[in-house]
Formats: sequence, C-alpha cells, structure tokens
Amino acid sequence: MWKEHLREFVDSFKHPAWGLSHSVRVYEMALHLAQEQGAALDEDAVLAAAYLHDIGALGAYRQPGIDHAQRSVQVVGDILAATDYPPEKIPLVKDIILGHTFQARPTSPLEAVLFHDADILDFIGYIGVTRLLSLVGKHDWAPDPAGALGTIRRFSQQMPPLLLTPQAQSIGQSRLAEMESYLGGLATETDNLRTL
Ligand SMILES: [Fe+2]
Ligand SMILES: [Fe+2]
Repeated sequence: MWKEHLREFVDSFKHPAWGLSHSVRVYEMALHLAQEQGAALDEDAVLAAAYLHDIGALGAYRQPGIDHAQRSVQVVGDILAATDYPPEKIPLVKDIILGHTFQARPTSPLEAVLFHDADILDFIGYIGVTRLLSLVGKHDWAPDPAGALGTIRRFSQQMPPLLLTPQAQSIGQSRLAEMESYLGGLATETDNLRTL
C-alpha cells in the first residue's frame, strides 16, 4: 500500500526537521484547518504531498541550485508511479508541493492553500523553536545555538504574515506568543544571550 511505502520511505531519511514527524504534523494540521472551514480535502493527495513535499531537500534527491519544491515536483511522479497511488491524483500532489514554500501564495486549489499554511505553522511556536534547535550544526539556519536563536527571532517576524487563511492566522498568533515568551525567557536567563 502506498501509504505504508511512503511512510517508510520518508522515515528512512531520519531528518530532525523535515522528516516523517514534520510530514505527519503538516498532514494533520491541513486536515484540521479544513475541518475548521467546514471544507473537504482530497486526503490522499494531502497525505502524499505531506510525505514528499520536502523530498527535494533530502539525501540524494537534493540538487544544489534547484529550489527544493521544484526538485520535489521533478521526482514525485516516479516515486508515486512505483506505488499503487492513484495516478490521476498526481497533478494535485504536484500543485500542493509547488504551493507550499514561503514565497508561494497559492489561491487554489484549497488543498494547496491549507497545506501552505500548515507547513508555515510548523515553523512557528514551540514546534518551530524545537525544529530550528534540532538543526544546530546541521544547517545554515542554525550554525550554533546563538545562530539558531537569530533564525527563531527572524522567523517569528517573517512567518505569521505569510499565513493565508484566518484559521491559520489565529493559530499563528498563539504560536507567535509562545515564541516571544521563549525568546524573552531565554534572554532573561542568559543576560540577553551574552552567556548562551
Ligand atoms: Fe519545504
Ligand atoms: Fe515542509
């Protein structure tokens, strides 16, 4: 079954911030946002996109100079064609993947809009802090703890305005408060980061 296959496939990359758990959170958040709107989504397409939207940033799929979403779209057709995933739904998976990045502002289909917001929300709040700290020493965003803190502060300003739907904006506001509380508390405990 494609669901089990994709789950194991993504899990094999063992990435702390873009791995299986990120996929599961984004999938469940997209469904939650749809439920709050009283809307129905193509859950198969959202799940396949959740597993594969960041594949272009992982392992051997990564290609320098190519945006990770573009790269994911390049490879997703072959990955899904090797499973029993319904082929007629592959174009929707590609639309969702292309719409998920910070720069994208998808207006349709609804799957792409809600997926975009779900992915952005995973950079905000306690979970956003946790993911960025998990990257210390592994990514340009977090060369060391102080560098990660700079990214956390920057994302707390950049990410909430990128949210497209009122439902996600409301969650984003609560998560922004979590981030600000963390940053304030850490500054207090480290003499304004001097001793971090
Ligand atoms: Fe991504
Ligand atoms: Fe993502």
